[in-house]
Amino acid sequence: MSGSNDHIGGEARRYGNATIGEAVARLRAGGLVAVPTETVYGLAADSTNAAAVAEIYRTKGRPDFNPLIVHVPDRESAGKLGKFDDLASLFADALWPGPLTIVVPKRDNCPVAAAVTAGLETIALRCPAHPVMRELLEQSGLYLAAPSANRSGGISPTTAEHVTRSLGAKVPLILDGGPCERGIESTIIAVAGGEYRILRPGPVTEAQLEAVAGKAPILADTNLIEAPGQMLSHYAPSKPLRLNAETAADDEYHIGFGNLPGDRNLSPDADLAEAASLLFAALHDADASGKPRIAVAPIPNAGIGNALNDRLRRAASPR
Ligand code: TXA
Ligand code: MG
Repeated sequence: MSGSNDHIGGEARRYGNATIGEAVARLRAGGLVAVPTETVYGLAADSTNAAAVAEIYRTKGRPDFNPLIVHVPDRESAGKLGKFDDLASLFADALWPGPLTIVVPKRDNCPVAAAVTAGLETIALRCPAHPVMRELLEQSGLYLAAPSANRSGGISPTTAEHVTRSLGAKVPLILDGGPCERGIESTIIAVAGGEYRILRPGPVTEAQLEAVAGKAPILADTNLIEAPGQMLSHYAPSKPLRLNAETAADDEYHIGFGNLPGDRNLSPDADLAEAASLLFAALHDADASGKPRIAVAPIPNAGIGNALNDRLRRAASPR
């Protein structure tokens, strides 16, 4: 099966108002489609098609040890791919559809291509809430592997324009659903032995998880890279980035928060959800600005603020 990029001749073609039908046909033929979700834009392919999955890794320049999330239309489909114990079921029933990825043991007869899980015995599953992604899942009947639609290590895309800027002609079809509402990747939890660990903080907060589980997560071993994609340097702009910056130098693009307006304020009202929805767009803008360096105002470490600071630390980390 050939990938979808064979016939585009390097020309960037963006189908802002392409129909879902075109996208479904492309996916069924083993091609790639960039699609909006409530978190960030994903680069989707049929997870059961090994050649299509290989094309995702190639297009992103993603290391093959970093597994992909498989998107499903509902809890029932998820149960065909992974084994849900009581706790995993509790999370899925309470928080799906939504920005939560659940890592569970893979079923023996799981039809997903081996490269998707990068040799792990577990599989990462998410049932997204975005109407465009939901329609694509429902109409295609496919389980869609979809990493964020950016070059590996770069800033995640929260608009169709960001996808074009990062991957350009490599993605022949982008479904443009406008800006992503949450703006930050899904919370990832691993559930095993009746306990859960947070592998990646995100829009679903620790407090929400605790309310569902009736108990706190066990601590993830920070020396162990438990989500293989959680490398320290990630989400990185091309310029040096300085954190907790209350003031900025003349040559710095200042991303503000609350009463520190900066060149662009993530949320004048200090609303963390609003700031999350705008963070990656601000980093994209800062990267494209004339200033050679970026400074970011302090962001409180509470609720979604944890996820924002997690992404910012990785963005600031030298490659
Ligand atoms: O919000 C999101 O999750 C977006 C949208 C498109 O759904 N997707 C996304 O995918 O952020 P990606 O590939 O950028 O990040 C997936 C993360 C990686 O850190 C990867 O290591 C981790 O999920 N992951 C995937 N399978 C895993 C597994 N079996 N065990 C642990 N971590 C896993
Ligand atoms: Mg990513």
